[in-house]
Amino acid sequence: MPKRILITGGAGFIGSHLADNLLRHGHEVRALDCLSPQVHGVDRRRPSYLDPEVELIEGDVCDSAAVRRALRGVDAVYHFAAKVGVGQSMYQIADYTQVNNVATAVLLEALVENPVERLIVASSMSIYGEGLYRTEDGELVPGHERPLAQLQKRDWELRDRKGRLLTPVPTPETKTPTLASVYALSKYDQERMCLIVGRAYRIPTVALRFFNVYGPRQALSNPYTGVMAIFASQLLNNLPPLIFEDGLQQRDFIHVRDLAEGCRLALETPDVAGEVFNLGSGHRYTVREVGERVAAALGRENVEPKIIERYRVGDIRHCFADTSLARRRLGFEPRITFEEGVADLVNWLERQEVDGRAPDARTELEERGLTV
Ligand code: UD1
Repeated sequence: MPKRILITGGAGFIGSHLADNLLRHGHEVRALDCLSPQVHGVDRRRPSYLDPEVELIEGDVCDSAAVRRALRGVDAVYHFAAKVGVGQSMYQIADYTQVNNVATAVLLEALVENPVERLIVASSMSIYGEGLYRTEDGELVPGHERPLAQLQKRDWELRDRKGRLLTPVPTPETKTPTLASVYALSKYDQERMCLIVGRAYRIPTVALRFFNVYGPRQALSNPYTGVMAIFASQLLNNLPPLIFEDGLQQRDFIHVRDLAEGCRLALETPDVAGEVFNLGSGHRYTVREVGERVAAALGRENVEPKIIERYRVGDIRHCFADTSLARRRLGFEPRITFEEGVADLVNWLERQEVDGRAPDARTELEERGLTV
């Protein structure tokens, strides 16, 4: 059954891909988006990639009148509007709390008055902090924050009390959250607030924990964009990618079109209200590998990445998704291989204007003492 769907943050990277997916499946899509200059540039024009079929309401999710207008006649809501820089959240604390936490509260108050058939909220792997690990004795333990003294010695891996290495394993939804940044805190807050209010007012709600999403339309001008886009724009500017720690930290990279499909399944699958799902590829790659693959795809193998042996405050060592719950309950089946995905990102990037200044959040973080 075609539905009328609101995506908050629908002009952004993930929201716009979701809009494409929903339109393809016969739904009508409205986006509420403030066209933030950090993402959309100073002239804040409707992005050319946004399908003309999407009805764009330019407005702020913190503005309850705009939210109420956007909710008119809508059957379901995806709440994707958020500020997404982990490092930035550590100094724009009030702003992150306003845009991520307070705006969710504003949306929920409006939803209580205009209930919908389903609310889907974008949560994040960042809420786990470190992922799940196995000890040498085979016991599964949540990863702990690495002590600063250890990191200052450039000893990057997690160890148990006796100093023995811990081995990372896929992280399931049941892993206890460890909130290590204001961003992570705000994402957990969004997720819980939606589930709590959804349950109380019988608005069927689903929370999706996104892993490291990449693909075309990733904001290049935004220094807090993901590592893959950062490396690619550095390489296109003939600058070496800067790799934190030793580059052997592992992440789960999921292509944005696979992610969008998972988001649609969360709308259309019956009986999943109140549940939380990891959306990742289920595969892991080291940051070094990411640098190598992107360089190869761009034909820049000659540009050596710089391994800077510094810790970015708030960073975790390893986290990758256990996707079995999403596979079982939603029928989620990521299809785009890492090779295809990187080629797709690079192909898109080569057609963009990448200005002489590749995004560099490092200087800003260093000035604030947020690297070690
Ligand atoms: C974080 C969040 C995630 C959020 C994403 C995008 C955590 C644990 N996760 O992911 O929820 O969706 O940001 O905002 O907080 N790196 C470099 N050089 C760079 C940039 C990054 O080496 O120039 C390294 C980082 O140190 C990190 C890895 O690449 O180890 C991935 O970084 P990034 O893409 O920023 O994402 P996460 O921190 O994993």
